Amino acid sequence: MEQQKINIAIDGHSSAGKSTMAKALAKELNFVYVDTGAMYRAATLFCLRERLIESNEIDSKKIEHAVKRMYIGFKYNPKTEQPEVHLGGSNVEEEIRSLEVAKKVSLVAAIPNIRHKLVELQQRMAESGGVIMDGRDIGTVVMPNAKLKFFVTADAQVRARRRVEELKAINPNVKFEEVLKNLVERDRIDSNRAVSPLRQADDAIVLDNSQLTHEEQFQFLLVHARKAMASE
Ligand code: DC
Repeated sequence: MEQQKINIAIDGHSSAGKSTMAKALAKELNFVYVDTGAMYRAATLFCLRERLIESNEIDSKKIEHAVKRMYIGFKYNPKTEQPEVHLGGSNVEEEIRSLEVAKKVSLVAAIPNIRHKLVELQQRMAESGGVIMDGRDIGTVVMPNAKLKFFVTADAQVRARRRVEELKAINPNVKFEEVLKNLVERDRIDSNRAVSPLRQADDAIVLDNSQLTHEEQFQFLLVHARKAMASE
């Protein structure tokens, strides 16, 4: 029997390991993985390049016009076997992981014009099903009807340690305290912004992975996914 192409939403705190588990699950189920955090990061890179951010202020009038020139999308990279984010046709997958982008992304993600444009794009990507999307508002705003929703969290210290390991590849001098501070600050802004704040959907399954291995998390997700597909 052909498997049902349901949509799966994975929301949660910064650096909780959502993308790692979403990628693994998408590979196993032969679904399409959409990293919406990468889209907000690409939008941030766009704003930085266009000089729309002055210290911690964004020119909202200029943004309204500039957003029309912002082209964000994904292209499959056969080498990494993953979809990678493109801005204006160029691959920016590496550039968007810098601390400079991380420091401004919550600010950019709070702008209604930006969210509106990206949510519309994300909803189009999910139209035909078979999508695993991770972010902050996927189960609540982007795909409120997703068949399966997870809310992932972990202790902030554990999350910061994981992020430091990731960042070391691009910056060997990365500081734990700086990463932890950025992460806690992003959680605060993401949870308190006026538009689509980070919130657990009522029907989401909570996963605290502070003490879990990748394999344990993967199995947890897979069991729920198979159950949801069987009941479709
Ligand atoms: O998942 P991430 O850390 O790459 O996300 C980067 C930022 O983008 C995060 O601080 C919050 C924002 N974001 C959002 O507001 N809504 C989403 N659906 C995904 C990410």
